[in-house]
Amino acid sequence: MLQISELSKVYNTPKSAKGAARGKSEPTHKALEPLTLNVTGGQVYGLLGPNGAGKTTLLRCLSTLLTPSSGTARVGGFDIGQEPEKVRQILGVVNGGMGLYDRLTGREILEYFAGFYGMERSKVQSRILELDSLLELGDALVKRTMDHSTGMKQKIVIARAVIHDPRVLILDEAASGLDILARRALLDFVKSYKAQDRLVLYSTHVMDEIEEVSERAAILYKGRLLEEGTLEDIRARAGEKRLENAFFELVKAEEGRLVAS
Ligand SMILES: Nc1ncnc2c1ncn2[C@@H]1O[C@H](COP(=O)(O)OP(=O)(O)OP(=O)(O)O)[C@@H](O)[C@H]1O
Ligand SMILES: [Mg+2]
Repeated sequence: MLQISELSKVYNTPKSAKGAARGKSEPTHKALEPLTLNVTGGQVYGLLGPNGAGKTTLLRCLSTLLTPSSGTARVGGFDIGQEPEKVRQILGVVNGGMGLYDRLTGREILEYFAGFYGMERSKVQSRILELDSLLELGDALVKRTMDHSTGMKQKIVIARAVIHDPRVLILDEAASGLDILARRALLDFVKSYKAQDRLVLYSTHVMDEIEEVSERAAILYKGRLLEEGTLEDIRARAGEKRLENAFFELVKAEEGRLVAS
């Protein structure tokens, strides 16, 4: 379902405020070292890493919002560089930014986005009903988003991402801002989403969330892939019972390598 081949990203960070004003830039920041990874469908795949690890950079490349500096990836069989429209058609993304129109109700937003994907009207209404029961959208459908709580907004953002029932769902810190009930609804939804060979890429720095929803994960640190495999393997390789401790051990070992090199 997802094949990442030697994908890397270097940001052209402005040299200085003055340089930026003059449009000058230089390749200074390697956000992602060449990364190769294959992920099959029918699962929630965790992407773990501390702040600045490169998770969002990777996911933005996969969602065709950023162009990789080298390498490529295939999502659902489509190349992100050569067939970006096809990738976007089979992809749903929740990436932190909400971008909801204040004056529209949740239902109007969902209808509006369904239009982008060319969904039939009757299909849209049945899909909204389905999402209402899965995500407990309730009032969020009838109230204008300016009157939504953060959790209600986030639920509409998630519903919007899956309105067209995408084969691949990318969630980047999707649980942030949710209260305990909304978070539960999200995690249950994520776990159910992997049916029918669909893939959920679940990115977070919260280990508990990964332990609850995923069986496999990749750990990124400073733009490098530190580990990949089942959570059980990752814990075993680090000689730890808890994922959090395994993560600390892996980071410590990597820091040791970086200092030595
Ligand atoms: N637009 C940008 N220009 C320059 N550098 C950037 C840009 N976006 C991200 N970076 C840098 O690239 C690195 C990876 O950032 P990224 O946002 O991908 O990490 P992350 O794992 O998603 O972190 P977080 O958990 O904080 O969301 C960081 O060092 C960050 O400062
Ligand atoms: Mg991020």
